[in-house]
Amino acid sequence: MNIVVLAAGMGKRMRSDLPKVLHPLAGRPLLGHVVDTARSLAPSRLVIVHGHGAETVREAFPDHDIRWALQSPPRGTGHAVQQAVTELDDASPTLVLYGDVPLTRAATLGALATAAGTDRLALLTVHLDDPAGYGRIVREAGAVRRIVEHKDASEAERSITEVNTGILVAPTPALKRWLAGLTNDNAQGEYYLTDIVAAAVADGVEVVATHPDHVWETLGVNSKRQLAELERVHQHNLAGDLLDAGVHLMDPARIDVRGSLRCGRDVVIDVGCVFEGDVELADGVRIHAHCVVRDSRLGAGTEVLPFCHLESAVVGEQARIGPYARLRPGTELAEHTHVGNFVEFKNTRMAAGSKANHLAYVGDATVGRNVNIGAGTITCNYDGANKHRTVIEDDAFIGSDTQLVAPVTVGRGATLGAGTTLTADAPADKLTISRARQLTIENWQRPVKGKSR
Ligand code: UD1
Ligand code: CA
Repeated sequence: MNIVVLAAGMGKRMRSDLPKVLHPLAGRPLLGHVVDTARSLAPSRLVIVHGHGAETVREAFPDHDIRWALQSPPRGTGHAVQQAVTELDDASPTLVLYGDVPLTRAATLGALATAAGTDRLALLTVHLDDPAGYGRIVREAGAVRRIVEHKDASEAERSITEVNTGILVAPTPALKRWLAGLTNDNAQGEYYLTDIVAAAVADGVEVVATHPDHVWETLGVNSKRQLAELERVHQHNLAGDLLDAGVHLMDPARIDVRGSLRCGRDVVIDVGCVFEGDVELADGVRIHAHCVVRDSRLGAGTEVLPFCHLESAVVGEQARIGPYARLRPGTELAEHTHVGNFVEFKNTRMAAGSKANHLAYVGDATVGRNVNIGAGTITCNYDGANKHRTVIEDDAFIGSDTQLVAPVTVGRGATLGAGTTLTADAPADKLTISRARQLTIENWQRPVKGKSR
């Protein structure tokens, strides 16, 4: 099958500098959803007709399987498909999709292609309570005869509730012939793709119609309002899939998945969480309210308390993160680790059983097993020019408010006294402390206002 995606439209009502088809739905451009669906049908040719913001659109899809056809200026949907004809293989039918209709299911398109076979024109149509604005499907004795655009329709035709979604499959050589015969003699002065229906009927080609299971599969985006509505539809569907897979969502209306979220058994997700990129939650993981998790993997039984931000982190089993923790890229926490409130980790591996429970920055570090990192500990990993590593060996105890000036190593079982600024390695099993000695001035008196000595 050839697939042509129409994406030259201007999207004026989006009121945005970004070309319409690049606006994101669930974190991916609208056109990306359409291209993904198209690819799932294994097309022999995949052609995108673009025009408005051409270069920006092309750059967003550098993939080699895409052929680009330029339509400039846009003169209607029929004119748009005309720009793609030289790219189409006559030996197989052509499916036309819209770049701003992101949620059509592959199964729906498969059924449409089956209905078309090799020699029929197949239209995807829906019945709408309010068909205003759409092209109407005009039937005679049940058979599709033509499509009339809203602006060209008579009062009687406007009462037809079966509308054209714009998605169709046509035999390619006939499509090329019909397109060549289009005129723009209509209310909008455009070359209508929809006029090929009457041409097919005149040629004696059978025209059939199939319907999607859901109306939202055919909805397009013309405004931010419609984009927001489709985002909700899509998120509702994704949440439904998670529920069906056994994930416990505290409220399926309050989760956002912008990428792929894979969950084991008995995963619980509280409200207000956002998942981006590829996220994997193993059995029994609990994500409490208002966490953002991006490209991360969490081991079985791990719990993330409210208000955490995780990015490119890997966490082992039975760990406890947050509340208010930030795990930045390159964080690898082993099993039974604890990272508490206002703690930031970056590019750091921490082995099993270690804890940083409060107010710490641990960056570019390697932390052993059963280490305790006290409140206010900071790895000074950056000297203004280069980053250096801090190594903390097993069973070390880092007292509160300690600065570890990297590169530096804290030996196995070492203890650092509170307030230490560590600039040289701390030996194993010893107490190391850098702190001005405490002093009390015996006869000191507090100054009194207005009284000189
Ligand atoms: C079109 C159909 C109408 C159908 C409706 C469904 C025609 C003449 N009408 O209406 O029957 O009910 O879709 O939404 O086909 N595009 C281009 N180049 C152009 C014009 C459009 O690439 O010159 C693209 C747009 O970017 C969009 C799609 O084609 O992705 C549909 O364009 P739009 O203007 O929304 O279609 P309508 O004329 O409203
Ligand atoms: Ca439209």
